[in-house]
Amino acid sequence: DDPNKPKSTNERFAVARQRYKEPDPEDDANPFKDQDQWEAHQVKQAQAQFGAKNKKSEVKEYDLVYDDQIKFIKDEIMAGDGVAKIEADRKSLPIFPYRESLIKAVEDHQVVVIVGETGSGKTTQIPQYMWEAGFGGKTQKIGCTQPRRVAAMSVASRVAEEAGVKLGHEVGYTIRFEDCTNDKTRVKYMTDGMLLREFLGEPDLSSYAVMMVDEAHERTLHTDVLFGLVKDIARFRPEIKLLISSATLDAEKFSEYFDFAPIFRIPGRRFPVDILYTQQPEADYVDATVVTVLQIHLTQPEGDILVFCTGQEEIESCEELLKTRIHEMEKKPPELIIAPIYASLPSDMQAKIFEDTPKGSRKVVLATNIAETSLTIDGIKYVIDPGFCKQKSYNPRTGMESLVVTPTSQASALQRAGRAGRTSAGKCFRLYTAWSFQNELDPNTVPEIQRTNLGNVVLMLKSLGINDLMHFDFMDPPPAETLLRALEQLYALGALNDRGELTKLGRKMAEFPLDPMLSKTLCASDKYKVSDEVMTICCMLSCGNTVFYRPKDKLQLADHAHKSFHIGNVGDHIALLNVYNSWRDADFSVTWCYENFVQQRTMKTARDIREQLEKLLERVEIEPSSNTNDLDGIKKCITSGFFYHTAKLQKNGSYRTVKNPQTVAIHPSSGLAKELPRWVVYFELVYTSKEYMRQVIEIKPEWLVEIAPHYYKRKEIEGETIKTGKAAAGKKSDVVLA
Ligand code: CDP
Ligand code: MG
Repeated sequence: DDPNKPKSTNERFAVARQRYKEPDPEDDANPFKDQDQWEAHQVKQAQAQFGAKNKKSEVKEYDLVYDDQIKFIKDEIMAGDGVAKIEADRKSLPIFPYRESLIKAVEDHQVVVIVGETGSGKTTQIPQYMWEAGFGGKTQKIGCTQPRRVAAMSVASRVAEEAGVKLGHEVGYTIRFEDCTNDKTRVKYMTDGMLLREFLGEPDLSSYAVMMVDEAHERTLHTDVLFGLVKDIARFRPEIKLLISSATLDAEKFSEYFDFAPIFRIPGRRFPVDILYTQQPEADYVDATVVTVLQIHLTQPEGDILVFCTGQEEIESCEELLKTRIHEMEKKPPELIIAPIYASLPSDMQAKIFEDTPKGSRKVVLATNIAETSLTIDGIKYVIDPGFCKQKSYNPRTGMESLVVTPTSQASALQRAGRAGRTSAGKCFRLYTAWSFQNELDPNTVPEIQRTNLGNVVLMLKSLGINDLMHFDFMDPPPAETLLRALEQLYALGALNDRGELTKLGRKMAEFPLDPMLSKTLCASDKYKVSDEVMTICCMLSCGNTVFYRPKDKLQLADHAHKSFHIGNVGDHIALLNVYNSWRDADFSVTWCYENFVQQRTMKTARDIREQLEKLLERVEIEPSSNTNDLDGIKKCITSGFFYHTAKLQKNGSYRTVKNPQTVAIHPSSGLAKELPRWVVYFELVYTSKEYMRQVIEIKPEWLVEIAPHYYKRKEIEGETIKTGKAAAGKKSDVVLA
């Protein structure tokens, strides 16, 4: 028998059941130990209320009584009208009793740090309280930033519903490429990146009376930069109110940074969560996840499941595996509703995670990190934490940035576990060992600013007139090397002059909500008279890696359809252009997408982005131009932006990046994967089994000298001597191209 042959479901369960042991209360590895007293108190209270005697054996009864109570209250409310229900929902949130004192605190202080457990109502309620209390009067807005687009949209729609207004009117949101607000908007949710962009047009944020920087604990790059900017504004706008809100962590640090601003704590309401670890490390955590979901579904009392996956691809494979395994079962289990949630999921499908689970069935939410703190889903009782997340990592030495799956931090693990105990007692299944929690996980997640390329942010700060970045008031400064790299790169792109000042080109580039390399590509299209084509390519690249669709049962058909876009081995960027243009020629038809195995959703996004970019191009005075046949011109534009990302074929068939040599390979999904051109420019690196270049075009090496003479010297291109950027820039080369 093949040892790799999958075991039957029952065999798997037998193995899986061995896997978990109940936590030992004496075990130091149990992170909830410190809260034991607090939890015991909570349990006692709950027991007194519902008449249960013993926590463990009476869980079921306790659950039922609790559910009945809720149901009773809900029935009563539903007998009234919807407005009454929403009112009651709002009043039942942990933050509600503190409404008046919170408003008072904001009246008394310019900056208030607000801390409260996820789900206590910070994001949905505080901006409404401020609005209701009359901050901003009839003209100014209450702003609230979110690190994630999905959160900004979903929260705004919830708040619009609570406030009984149409989304986009009094309550609205703005995310990149989408503005859902109008001049009536008083409460505005937005991504932190969008607020940064707003600074460009309104450096003092004068249209805002209150600005709430929410989910501050996430420490995203944009949030960290916002801290410095809003702190500065507060100095010369004494009447603006700043709220910094966070889920429990690091409140003192925030307070200290904002000149010892008062901390307002919202006492949490949390039920005990049992933490279960695996006894052995998991070799395949996706498989372990699926087994655990099914195990819970078949053996545990009712309650929904939340799974933390690292990204869309993993969510999709989990979903597929789950469906297959359920299909294979001899006896049909109760219904399991699978609800995925990730950033690029269309909003109508996002709503599914908030829908009530019908009696007798169970919902499993497959989520990215977004469900860790920014979204609260009611009814979750079981959390599965495989212990990983996708993180950006940046190496300032090589200038390479890639997305890698890394272990989460202890702080994140605690947050994830907490999601199980919101409405009743819960369980968290950690798919790693207690030892590894203690010894292998970092205590906190490293702030993004310390592990990312800063090109974009530096360009933005420079255009805000902040020149001395070394002395910018960062809460945790980025490594000096990373800052220098960003300056160097912007200089190489022509966005900064040799004194570090913004050039005319840099000013144009800053107008685009894109990575500087893409912005430069766009700006270059003016010179080569192909703005139409290059704009399309930039949009398609901005849509992520989801253009082509390859259903497992129709792989050959799909691959055949996709091949037609690559005819002539034109390179992936041009193939993307071909996709868009063919779709446009087919009148943006849905059937066309279906027949060509192209994701219609992605194409629609690309079209939306394109409309926005078109307006921005006009604003920076780039004349519309088009020449679909000038492939060299189009590729030269791409090279203008991405000459950093050049690799050369080696004798052994691998590639080496030209500056800061590293071995890389063309991603198997690329149209050039089998062609192996001598010189290529790539869009991004992804690290899976090795460093892969994704989206690749062939270039001529002499273009590098023509387009980026300050960066590439002829000698480097022809000879084998390869120097680092700085060393090469210092030398003049007189070797002539052969
Ligand atoms: O920000 P915080 O984590 O403190 O809580 P929140 O996001 O304001 O959530 C408060 C309540 O609103 C929770 O019970 C959520 O389930 C609910 N909510 C919702 O039903 N739909 C949304 N889109 C967002 C929140
Ligand atoms: Mg929140």
